[in-house]
Amino acid sequence: MSPNEKTANSIQGETNSRPEVLHATTGTRSGLPIAVVVDSTVLGPALGGCRIMAYHSWRDGVADAQRLAAAMAEKCALTGLAYGGGKTVVPLAAGPPPAGDQRRDLLLDIGDAIAALGGRYATGPDVGTTPVDMSVIASRTPHVFCRPVAHGGSGDSSSPTAEGVLSAIRALAAHQHLRFTTAAVVGLGGVGLRVARGLAATGTRLLTADIDERRRGAAEELGAAWLPVADALRAEVDLLVPAATGEMITRDLVAQMRCRCVLGPANNQLDDPETAEELHAHGITWAPDTVVSAGGVIHAVAIERERATAQQAHQRVMAIGDTLTTILNEARSRGFSPARAAQERAGTLLAQAPNPGRGAPVG
Ligand code: PHE
Repeated sequence: MSPNEKTANSIQGETNSRPEVLHATTGTRSGLPIAVVVDSTVLGPALGGCRIMAYHSWRDGVADAQRLAAAMAEKCALTGLAYGGGKTVVPLAAGPPPAGDQRRDLLLDIGDAIAALGGRYATGPDVGTTPVDMSVIASRTPHVFCRPVAHGGSGDSSSPTAEGVLSAIRALAAHQHLRFTTAAVVGLGGVGLRVARGLAATGTRLLTADIDERRRGAAEELGAAWLPVADALRAEVDLLVPAATGEMITRDLVAQMRCRCVLGPANNQLDDPETAEELHAHGITWAPDTVVSAGGVIHAVAIERERATAQQAHQRVMAIGDTLTTILNEARSRGFSPARAAQERAGTLLAQAPNPGRGAPVG
């Protein structure tokens, strides 16, 4: 599983200069592999969370980091943030994630790997990491978002992420002239559960699913039905909300899907960008995840870098609905998928950038 440092360490300048940096290392304390990918700093220093989870192989983890970093670049561009995209992935073997001193060692190693990039990349929480973890990383590098509020950070990003998703849901419903009376939420983690609560509060009838059976109780509290993930993905509902990891929506699945719209916070929901075209061809409206899931980064940047008030940060998160409406209108008027409208818009924004922040530290 360990990468070969000599060949993998800081390979820069791949095709089209993306990714700009692929920094692969083995932590000196933990002995665990760490990949930091900087996709692009054209709009500013790269931003992207730190993911600690099991992968089949080290190579799969690096490939995922690359895709996730590219998605972060699109996310920042589309939501008007002067930041690029990056990601950190620690691909673990199956089994429980490191805890106690072992976890601390790993987080310090991650901090050193980020510090080595000198501010071209800043991290934040993601799958398998928490605000408290960010504080440990911060003991090695200042380029960290979302430490707990008590430690001077903006705290857990799940709430603003969920608020952004709910704002996107309202925008989608208005655009489609639909009332989402039924929804299936797949994944009841920090963000998924909050979105489910928001939907339940407006009277939407809920189906829920999670690979973790322990979350069933939370579903029951909401009065939501519980079903296997595979069934939830194929349920006949107005809205499907992907809120778990993994590329859940595959090309083969599309023909069996019975929902009208797909919109959720999971990063990289589709197995392949082409699957967005497949959904479009089947008459299913897919709201690009890069826009829908941006609440966390928008909030963290507003509070920690722009010194916005809580209310100003909230307003910026709520603007996700307007950004989505713009993309849906663009897609409708040009007769193509929202995914393509988002990609083209992000591509134009990156191409037009005067390159102000490239290589500059996060500050
Ligand atoms: N998990 C967040 C995302 O995917 C990452 C993040 C949040 C990074 C907040 C920085 C600040 O968008």
